[in-house]
Amino acid sequence: MERTARNAELSIKNVGESVTVVGWVSKRRNLGSILFVDLRDRSGIVQVVINDDLKDVPEIRNEYILQVKGVVSKRNNPNPQLKSGEIEIVADKVVLVNTAKTTPLIIADETDALEDTRLKYRYLDLRRPIMQGYLDIRHKIKMAAHNYLDSLNFIEVETPILTLSTPEGARDYLVPSRIHHGCFYALPQSPQIFKQLLMIGGLERYYQIARCFRDEDLRADRQPDFTQIDIETSFLDQDQFLTMMEGLIKEIFKKTINYDVKLPLRRIPYREAMDKYGSDKPDTRFGFLLHDVKEILLKSTFEGYQGAEAIRAIKIDGVAQNTSRKVIDGLTLEARKFGLGGLTVLKVENNTLTGSFIKFLNEEIINDLMKEMDAKNDDIIIIAAGKANRVLPLLGALRNQYAKELGLIKPNTYDLLWVVDFPLFERDVESNQITSTHHPFTRPRDEDLKYLDTDPTKILSYAYDIVINGYEAGGGSLRIYNQEVQHKIFEVLGLSEEDIKRKFGFFIDAFQYGTPPHAGMAFGLDRLTMILGQTDNIRDVIAFPKNLSAVCPMSGAPEIVDEAQLDELGIQVKKD
Ligand code: AMO
Repeated sequence: MERTARNAELSIKNVGESVTVVGWVSKRRNLGSILFVDLRDRSGIVQVVINDDLKDVPEIRNEYILQVKGVVSKRNNPNPQLKSGEIEIVADKVVLVNTAKTTPLIIADETDALEDTRLKYRYLDLRRPIMQGYLDIRHKIKMAAHNYLDSLNFIEVETPILTLSTPEGARDYLVPSRIHHGCFYALPQSPQIFKQLLMIGGLERYYQIARCFRDEDLRADRQPDFTQIDIETSFLDQDQFLTMMEGLIKEIFKKTINYDVKLPLRRIPYREAMDKYGSDKPDTRFGFLLHDVKEILLKSTFEGYQGAEAIRAIKIDGVAQNTSRKVIDGLTLEARKFGLGGLTVLKVENNTLTGSFIKFLNEEIINDLMKEMDAKNDDIIIIAAGKANRVLPLLGALRNQYAKELGLIKPNTYDLLWVVDFPLFERDVESNQITSTHHPFTRPRDEDLKYLDTDPTKILSYAYDIVINGYEAGGGSLRIYNQEVQHKIFEVLGLSEEDIKRKFGFFIDAFQYGTPPHAGMAFGLDRLTMILGQTDNIRDVIAFPKNLSAVCPMSGAPEIVDEAQLDELGIQVKKD
C-alpha cells in the first residue's frame, strides 16, 4: 500500500511536499465547505483538510481507515496539542480502505469505559495513544536490556515452559500430560532452576526476557502470567553483581525516559527498612517514619499494651482537624486487615495531646511521646501494638496511604534503592511454618551458617531486592554452590529425602560436577514499565492481561473444554 510518511512525523519542514498517509479517522468536523479529519496512525495524529470541491470523497466516519494523498500546508491556527499541529494535509485524493462499526469505547486517552469493557475490546483499547505509549516504553526497556547485556557478553537462552514445579513459593499452573495420564507439567514460576543449571553448564552470563506463571491472588501489581528480565552470572561477588545491575537500570531509565539515575544506589538492610518504613519495599520520598515507642508506652496503665512484642507509632503532620470519628474507624478497620485488634489515634489540638486513650497516660508519658514523635499542633500520632510482623506492615501501609492522600509524591521523581541482608527464612504468620524468604537456593551469609542447626530464623542471606518508588521491581541473590549446605536448607524447610529427590534430585545431582559460584536476579518487566509509564495498574502495560479474577474478558479464558479432550488426558472434572 502506498504510504510516504508517518502522520505525526510531518512538520513545518515538509510544507509544500506531496505525501500519502494512512490511518484511522479519530475525529471529523464538518464546516460545510470544508471537512476536517484527524487521521491517526501509530505515530499520532495529522489533520487532513477536505475541500467540498474534491471529487469522489467517500463516506467518512470515526475509525474508518483512509488513505489520503495531499500536500502539506502550514496551518493558520496551529494546534499546540498535536505534534504535527503546525501543519495540515490538503487532500487531493481520499480512498476508503475499510469501514468500521461504531466502537464500544471512545478511542482517546481519556475514556470513561469500564476496565472490563476495555479488556473485552482490548484491540480497540490498544488504539488509544496512551496505551501504545505504555507498550512503547515496554519495548524500549527490553531493547535497553538486550543491548546493555549483550555488550557485557551475556547471551539470551530460552528455558522450557513445560517443566517441573519451580520453588518461588506461589501455586503452580499445571498442564496435564496426554501421554502420561496422571502426570503434570508445571508452568515455570521463573526460570530459576534452569538458569542455575546454565551456570553449571558453563554459560557464565545468561539472560532471558522470560515469561513466568504464578497462580496467586492478584493485585494492582500482579498478573498470573508476567515477564521478567531474568539474569544469572558466574564468578561475581555481591558488589560486582549489584554494580553491573545498577548499570543496567541506569541504561533503562536513560533510554526510556531520558532520566539520569545517580549511582551507586543506596543499600538499606532489611531490618532497617522494616523498622523505619514498615516495609521491605520502602518508598523513601516522604517521611512519616516509624518510631519505637514501646519503652515509653509500657509505662501507661493500658493493659492491652502489656506483653505486646512491638509498639510503634507514626506521626502524620497537619491532619488532626480532618481526622473525624469516621476516619479513625477506617484506620481501625485497616488494622484489623493486618490481624490486629485495632490501633490508637492521638491528636495534637491547641498544643495538647487529645484522644480517648489519653486517660491511660500520665504527664511524663505524654511529654516523652510528644518529644519522641516531635509532634506539633494539628498532627496526629497513630500507635499500633502487637506482633511485630503485623504492627510494622500496618504502619508501613498507612504511611503510604497518607502520602498518596496528601499528594506528597511528585510525578517524575524516582526513588531507587537496594534492600539487602534479608533473613534467609521467615515464619508464616498463619501457619507458623518456616519458609524461604526468597527461594531455597539463596546463599546464607557465611558468618550465620552456625545458626543452621540452632536457630535458622537468625540467618541473614546474600539476597537483595531493587525497590523503585515503593515497588519491588526486582530481586535476586548469591546462590548456594555447596551441595551440603543446599541439602541442609531443604531439611530446615521440612522437605523429606524423598521430596528432595523427587522435586530437586536432578538439580542436586548437577551440583556435584563443578558448580561455579553464581549470582543472579530478575527484574519485573511489567512493574518497571508501570513505574516508567507512571501508571499504578499493571494491566495497563500488558497487551492482553487478565482481570482481577484471572479471566481474560476478551477471549473468555479460562474455558471449559470438550469431554473428548478431557478423555484423552484421562481427566474427570469434579462437580462442586
Ligand atoms: P521474584 O519472585 O522476587 O524472584 O520475582 C522477581 C520479580 O518479578 C516481579 N514479579 C511479578 N510481577 C508481576 N506479577 C507477578 N505475579 C509477579 N511476581 C513477581 C517482581 C519481582 O521483584 N527467580 C527469582 C529471581 C532470582 O533469584 O534470580 C524470582 O523470580 O518485580
